Amino acid sequence: MKKSNKTGIGNAIDRVEGHLKVMGKAKYASEYPIKNKVYGQGINSTIAKGTITSIDTSEAEKQEGVLKVITYKNAEKLKTFDEEMVSIATDTIAPVLQSNQVHYYGEYVGFVVAETFEQAQYAARLVKFEYEADPSAVIDFDKSRSKAYKPNEKSDYSRGNLDQGIAEADEVVEQTYITPIEHHHPMELHAAIVSWENGKVTAYASQQIVEDATIAISATFQIPTKDVRVVSAFVGGGFGSKLNLERHVIMATMASKMINRPVQVTVTRTQMFTNTGMRQLNEQKMKIGAKKDGTLTALSHETLSHTSTNQEFQEPCGMVSKMLYNVANATVKDRLIPMNLQTPFAMRAPGEATGSFALESAMDEMAWKLKMDPLEFRIKNDTQQDLHKNQPFSSRLLVECLRIGADKFGWKDRKDQPGTNQKGNWLIGYGVSAASRNSPYQKTYAKVILTLEDGKVMAKVQMDATDIGTGSYTIIAQTASEYLDIPVNQITVELGDSDFPVTPGSGGSWGAASFSNGVRSACENAIAKLKNNRNVAGDKEISVAKLMKMNKLKTFESEGMAEPSAEFKKHSVFSFGANFSEVWVDKDTGMYRIKRMVNVASAGKVLNPKTAYGQIIGGLTMGAGMVIAEQTKVEPNFGNFITRSFADYHVPVNLDMANIEVVFLPEEDKIANKMGIKGIGELGITSVAASISNAIFNATGKRMRELPITPEKLIEAGLEPGVMA
Ligand code: MOS
Repeated sequence: MKKSNKTGIGNAIDRVEGHLKVMGKAKYASEYPIKNKVYGQGINSTIAKGTITSIDTSEAEKQEGVLKVITYKNAEKLKTFDEEMVSIATDTIAPVLQSNQVHYYGEYVGFVVAETFEQAQYAARLVKFEYEADPSAVIDFDKSRSKAYKPNEKSDYSRGNLDQGIAEADEVVEQTYITPIEHHHPMELHAAIVSWENGKVTAYASQQIVEDATIAISATFQIPTKDVRVVSAFVGGGFGSKLNLERHVIMATMASKMINRPVQVTVTRTQMFTNTGMRQLNEQKMKIGAKKDGTLTALSHETLSHTSTNQEFQEPCGMVSKMLYNVANATVKDRLIPMNLQTPFAMRAPGEATGSFALESAMDEMAWKLKMDPLEFRIKNDTQQDLHKNQPFSSRLLVECLRIGADKFGWKDRKDQPGTNQKGNWLIGYGVSAASRNSPYQKTYAKVILTLEDGKVMAKVQMDATDIGTGSYTIIAQTASEYLDIPVNQITVELGDSDFPVTPGSGGSWGAASFSNGVRSACENAIAKLKNNRNVAGDKEISVAKLMKMNKLKTFESEGMAEPSAEFKKHSVFSFGANFSEVWVDKDTGMYRIKRMVNVASAGKVLNPKTAYGQIIGGLTMGAGMVIAEQTKVEPNFGNFITRSFADYHVPVNLDMANIEVVFLPEEDKIANKMGIKGIGELGITSVAASISNAIFNATGKRMRELPITPEKLIEAGLEPGVMA
């Protein structure tokens, strides 16, 4: 980086779109002033399984402003799934309102379109549905274990010989850990405004991946992708819920086609429990064997979870157990129960967030049995080789994360024996956990348009990347600033439009690495071409403004592309981290406070310490939420969710959150990509729950194996063997 460039990568600059946001000028999907638009409201089923036997739309249709009531009876025919069970990961379609069958409580059964939002809301309540409920609905996880099946060949993984590993062990931990259904609730509700005009669709929609949304609309309606434009310029959070195109966008598209006007739809907060995905309940059986000296000899991780009756999804809880520790004998198994609930889907760090709760709790239990420091136990079992893929990690500074974190946190002050660190009525405990998160990187295109204005070069970057609150605009501007060597105030970034070059969008912690390398490539290409045209040596230091002048150009455009290298594919590319928590538990009431957290992250080159910090503290907050409150309860008779608003689905508030310290290890992983970047979007949530739960054990001597950890559960739990009463 040029020393004079204070806005290139690595600088903690403010968000470049920050002013637009606070001035209300950043347009979210539902904020486009589209002329002539009308409003749609989805109607949800009130049974978990069965048949719609009659629909009476007459009352709704009589209401002022009502333009259309759409049900399966008059809906457009869409492409639907032909097989019984399909994988949601490979789906590109989102059929809706296609039959009289109901598969889960809350499934869309109708869509009302009216001149105003209020008219649509009101009329939606007047459509009368009668059902024949099917009593065979599967809504109780506990009672449906016998229905579990093995989803595919990859559902069973094994290396070495587990039984032999267990036989070699001096100590064995065998326990089950449960994480409940959780919901992602980004601040911005799912929303879209769609117009179907002359066979062409324009959808302003809150989506994480623009290209996938475009494909979903085109595949569902069987129209060419070139006739679909998706705009997702600003997104107020996604957390996985906006990865796929959900059915409200399809209903709005259908309605627009039918009534020939643009249709706006906003999914209500309550509908976001039943119609925009969720994290599934996971019951994880862990079996760990270790020798007296702390050497792991065996590790088994079996997850029982659920999916819907027609789509398959399983978050890979066992992923962490495959690669985090040096253990020769390991098995991972995944099983699913088809249930009459909506299809679960990816929620921040799918697999790692929940899997690490089981693994890092079990590791802590083993350390207790071995009478070993849980920090040293983890360090002893570190590995630089990914034993799952049989290849080296591109870089792995897990031990450094643990050591540096321990130092910052003051781990040496931890008391081994629970219940011995007390202040008045408070029992104080320290907990640690290790974190890992896959750091993918995907093919990304970008365009840069340079213009010479009053001797200054202004640059515009365009790509279909999204900024879901993560800071994409800012790091993309910083990358252009770095590689063009001009300040960010001469750079405009335009994102989230399917007319722009294709990127993988925001998800799976691949955004930052993919986007910035794409922009880097576009900028490097621009400069190379400008130099080449005038026979300027490639390594000559010369400003882009001068190059434009030499080329006698007022404007110049260049594209770029970045993709994983052969080296990337020969390595396992993961981000690593360590979490430390201090928890104070009231010994009479079981109420507890998370007093402090320290997170150390090793995630390659940090593009902007400010936005990166935001990612980690957001992850820590969601991780804390897993422990203190978050859970969605299924009503056992009808299969609806009992928790369906923020009044009963609790998330952490400021008072719940600790003093947080975040440390980024200085690192550049050049195997990961040319800029040395790895992902952080999901690292921050990973293993946080275990660090807090392990701190609760250290405080109280009680091992909490089911999330969330409520005060009543904590009061009722007994002391672990070996804890002095
Ligand atoms: Mo993430 S769960 O891939 O948005």
